[in-house]
Order: sequence, then structure tokens, then C-alpha cells
Amino acid sequence: MNIKLLSFSVFLTFLLFSMCSQAALAKDFRKGSIYQIFTDRFSNGDPGNDDPEVSKGMFDPAKKNWHAYWGGDLQGVINKLPYIKKMGFSSIWISPVIDNVNKPTVQADGSIMAPYHGYHARNFKGIDEHIGNWKTFDALIAAAHKQGIKVMVDMPLNHTSSINHGEFGALYDGMEFMSDTENDRNKLFHHLPEIKDWNSPYQLQYYTLAWLGDLNQENSYIDTYLTNSVLKLISHGADATRLDAAKHASWGWQRSLVSKLVDKDSHFVAAEWWMSDTEDPMYGDAVKFVNKAGIGMFDFPFATGARAAFGTGKDASFRRLARIIERENEDINDCNALITFLDNHDMPRLLSLNSDRKNLHLALALLLTSRGIPSLYYGTEQYLHDDTKGGGDPYTRAWMTSFDPESSAYKLVSKLNKLRIDSEALHSGKQETVFVNDDVYVYQRAFGGEKAIIAINKSKEDYCLNIPEEFQFSAGSYKDSLEGALSGVELVLNSSSLEQKSVVQLPAQSASLWLKGASDEGARTIVPEISSVVPAAIHGGARVTIDGVGFGEKRGKVVVAGNSLVINHWSDSSVTFAAPTLSTGELSIYLERKDGARTNSRPFYVYKSRLVPVTFVVKNVPLQLKGEEIFICGEGASLGDWRTTASDAAGPMLYSEDRDYILCVPLPAGKKVRYKLFIRDRSGKVVLEEDGVHDIRVPDSGPWRHKVEWIDLPKK
Ligand code: NOJ
Repeated sequence: MNIKLLSFSVFLTFLLFSMCSQAALAKDFRKGSIYQIFTDRFSNGDPGNDDPEVSKGMFDPAKKNWHAYWGGDLQGVINKLPYIKKMGFSSIWISPVIDNVNKPTVQADGSIMAPYHGYHARNFKGIDEHIGNWKTFDALIAAAHKQGIKVMVDMPLNHTSSINHGEFGALYDGMEFMSDTENDRNKLFHHLPEIKDWNSPYQLQYYTLAWLGDLNQENSYIDTYLTNSVLKLISHGADATRLDAAKHASWGWQRSLVSKLVDKDSHFVAAEWWMSDTEDPMYGDAVKFVNKAGIGMFDFPFATGARAAFGTGKDASFRRLARIIERENEDINDCNALITFLDNHDMPRLLSLNSDRKNLHLALALLLTSRGIPSLYYGTEQYLHDDTKGGGDPYTRAWMTSFDPESSAYKLVSKLNKLRIDSEALHSGKQETVFVNDDVYVYQRAFGGEKAIIAINKSKEDYCLNIPEEFQFSAGSYKDSLEGALSGVELVLNSSSLEQKSVVQLPAQSASLWLKGASDEGARTIVPEISSVVPAAIHGGARVTIDGVGFGEKRGKVVVAGNSLVINHWSDSSVTFAAPTLSTGELSIYLERKDGARTNSRPFYVYKSRLVPVTFVVKNVPLQLKGEEIFICGEGASLGDWRTTASDAAGPMLYSEDRDYILCVPLPAGKKVRYKLFIRDRSGKVVLEEDGVHDIRVPDSGPWRHKVEWIDLPKK
């Protein structure tokens, strides 16, 4: 081969390889892990933007005022990408990049509070001058993608800035001033009181959060403006969006927004829905929100359970965490799309709760071997913490002083990340408790014929564990895949000892990881299994990808609602096809291999077309409601396919300031939809339903306010 031909074929191979790795990059968000960066506090790559002219006076070079800018920026993030990559992370989550207010809040003592966090937006279509500009943003995306790192951008779509000072919540579209909360002629904002009842769905979505200008997403201008702002970030290469304060913006509107994002090259969306744990009164609403939108969610229940377990409080037990994981297994369609974490910028770091570094190491093992997408808060790997006033906001946002790749936590995280990427059980398996008490948590994760068992003993004494039957490991010895990094031990079993209840001694403050069926443990029987359906809720005709193992090299079938679909691409681990246009609603999907073997089935929601936010308004309610609630059931996944259970039907409707019942529901654009109102009592019994069915045509674009008259109103 001549030299030119050779170099051309080398180039082609390279091109093909990088195209493949880009494709894998887009698909595999769930399989990797995230490094959370609080941009202003991470690394100062460009001192030129520390105190920009347009918003002068909000920078503190001495880093004494915790509410001022400290100089971190996008160039700083770019500079540190190799440090993050070497730790094994496949994605970063950066704090909001959009343009924030230019005026600080001046406190009574003369000190200033600046929007260094990025959550006080003024222009959602620009980049804040303290962290860079579109050029730096593009450079960050390019540098990250080149190193196989995806970028999740935080988007605070609920609000602008403070309503009582500074810029009074001003909103700009580029350079153009649109409105502020004082002079809001076009109703771009809600003007309702501060949230008082944190369990009232109406107050949560429509009232004011923390004195911030509460955007009216059901206003047509705001809908288009916010949607285009996110699409602009996507067009600049953002791979994922964090929906900040998702509990506080219209849930129906956000679901319609999501439907426009997730068909953009598998764009990943995860909702920040702040809650305590699975007992939280709003937990059911959160589950319904993410299941119907087919998106991920920040796993606050997991964080609550893990922080309780590894903290020093009276309830420092693993039992709560185990209960949480079991409950989420039952309720959440895709637990591997949950973003798990130990701490973040809004809560004291784990080291502020318990300064024992060995304890932190065990928590890291839990985080990086549990189901979901682990997110590690910047600096944890350098033991960063500031415990002033208990270490909460703003002390949870300390300056990153060290980038030492030799720190023990850095090396541990690298090891755990590598194990996770290499093991299907660890990145895709369901998590089930095998044994739990206050100090010992043993759980298994199985996927496609591979199984991982993780045994954590956080007490300062050894624990003798009777091997539970659920292990189902055959005779043999299983080395600790953590190689003793956390004082773990080898598991030795012989069949007789398995029958006679063998034991393993778990050392004090240790974690062991045993893998069965991994490549180094001999032959493995591959069980065909789906790990993800992306997007899991989408309009008919859109491209969908199913990932997993054991699909076989020969083309089989994709089966939805009993029908097989047209396949675009089939490989042993990934299949792409177009979502069905005829069967729509809440469906389930599975693959059938050429030899007839079937995978597990997964929930799959298909909408007739892209979604439009429709706000139903009911004025003439037939009953004086005393605890009963109004729901809407009807055609399609948004309306629960006529089911009347709270997790399926749309609702409950919310009693508004205008003394009517309202509910924003995403419905298919331009399509006819049939629906019915009904009333349920507290026990869930349907006590009244309409005497007929409404037949409407949803407009081609939204938002749409739809006034409903109750059919056949009973005489009062
Ligand atoms: C949640 C964010 O994480 C928090 O830091 C922020 O202040 C609020 N949302 C409001 O945007």
C-alpha cells in the first residue's frame, strides 16, 4: 500500500472511531458518572473576567465575602478537564451559565450579595460575563467532548432575580428589556405571595420562591423564550439539562418542554425536585412527573438515606437507605436514570457532618457502586470542607485549593469509576438488599448474567456475616475487586459450606466488592436484558435507542403493544428504531432475539405528536369539595389512558387564586383528544364523574388555556 493510501485509511479509521465514540458518548449517559462543578469556586482560568465593567464591584479577590464572586470561570473548567477525566468521570454538571443580574444586593451592614451561583438570571440567552462568553462555552464543549466528557448545564427556568431590590427580577431577551416584576404589563410573571405551604402543589408551582421573580411559563412569550434558551444551549453542544427547582415551575409546562429536548440526539434531562425521602408528601408527584416525562431525577431520597447512614446522628443506620432503595425500585420506571449524590452546593458536605475520612471513603464506595448515575461534588476527592455554621450554604461552596491526583480519595474514586464502567452489573443492574442492619449493608446488582455483591461494614468493629441464600454464588473464591483499597476481603465458598451457612468476616470500616460472571471469572451465560430505553417518553416517529446486552448480532424484533416495529439499526448491545405512530399511550416494550429469546420489558410512553401545554380551567364544579379532588382521565399517556388511579390520571386539579380549578397538562399538538373529569374521595374512590366525554382538538402550538364546562351538572 502506498503511503498516501495508508495515511488516508488511518484517517478513515480514526474518523470512524471518533464517530463511534461520539455516538457511544450520547447514548451512555446512564452508564457513567458526573462531577459537579460550582463554576465560580472551582478554578480561575481567566483573571480578565473577574470584575467585568458591566457589573463591577461584585468580585472579592480576598475570598472573604462568601456571597461575592471569587473568580472561577469556564476557562478554569477547561483547564481542569484532564484532572476530571483521569478520575474516570464521563460527565460534568456545571452551575448555570446564563447571564445573571448586574447589580448586587446590599445588606444592612453594607456588605454585598452577588449572583455568583448563577441562579439569578436576567438574560437566559447569554453567558454571564464573570464566567466567559459563547466562545468560551463552545471551547468548553469542544474540549470536553474531545476527552469523552459530556456536559450537563443547570437551567433555572422557574425564576429570574430578586423582586425587591437589584434589578427587580428584570428579564431581557438578548439586549432587549422585556419586563420586570414592578411593571409587568404582559403578565410574564406570576405575582403571588411567597410559598407558605410546602406541600401545596398550587403554591409550589405558582407562588413565589425565595423572593425571586416567578416566571409565568404558561404565557406564550415566556414559553417560547425559555424553550429557545434551552435549545440554544443544545445547539451549542450541551448534552444534558438540569431542571433547577422543577418542583416550583409548572409541572405540565416542563413536561411539554422536555418533549422538545429529548429527541435532540438523546439529550438527557434530570429534574431537581427537592424532597426528604420516599415518605415526603410530594414524593408521589415527583415520581409521576419523571415517569411520565421519561427523564432522570436528582435522587434526594438516596442522599437523605446515605447522609443519615454515614452521618453521626442518632439515626446513623443503613436501614432507612435500604427501605428507600426498595421503594424507589417499585415506583420509578428507570432507577438507573436517577442521579445519586452524597452532598451538593445546597447542603453541608458529608465531611461537615462526619469528619472521619475512612467513613467518607465507604460513602464513596456506596455512591459509586449503587444504581443510578453517581454525581460527586467538586473537592470531595480533596477532602474539601468548611464547617462554619455547620457547613451549609454558602460554606458548602468553598474555594477549590488543591488538585492533587495523589490524594487517597482521588485514587479511590478513579478505581471505583473504572470498575463501574467495566461492569454491566455495576452500571446497569437493579439494586436489591441482601442483608442490612444499622452498620452493615450488603446489596446485589445483577444485569445480563453478571452479578456484583457489595458488602459495607461502617462500624469500628468486625462483623461476621452469615452468607445469605440470595448470594447464589457457586463454590469458589471471589477476590475483592477493590483490591483491599477499603480493607475488603476475599469471599471463599465451597458448596458444602454454602449449604451449611458459611460466613465471611467483614473487617471494621471496610467495603468488599465481589463479582460473578465478569470476564475474569470464567465463562458467563449472557441473559438478554435491556438497560435503557432513550427517550422513554416521546412522540410517534421519533428515533429511539434501546441499550443492553445479549440482543444477538442478527436482527430480531422490537415489540410494542404486540406489534413489531421497523428497525433502523441492530447490534448485540444497541438497537434503534422509530417510535410507533399508530399504537400510542402507556405501552411496554421488549426485544425478541432472532432465536426467539426475549428481553425484560420496559415502560414506554408514546405521544401522538409533540406536546403542547394545555391549562384546563374548570369553573362550575358540581360539588362543594371537602377533601375530594378533581382529576382528568382520557386518551393518551398524559391522561392515563382513561385510568382513574392518581399515578395515571392527570391531576389533582389545583384550586387557584381566581377560585377555579386549573391544571396544566401536556397534550399532543394538532390532535383530537377525548377526556372526562371525575372526582375522587380521599380513599381514591371515584365519587362523581361527568355524564359524557369532551372531544377537543389541541392547537398546533401552545400554550393553550382551555375552559371546561362540567357536562350535565347535577342540580344543587
Ligand atoms: C436549587 C438550586 O440548587 C439552589 O442552589 C438555588 O438557589 C435554587 N434552586 C433556586 O434557583
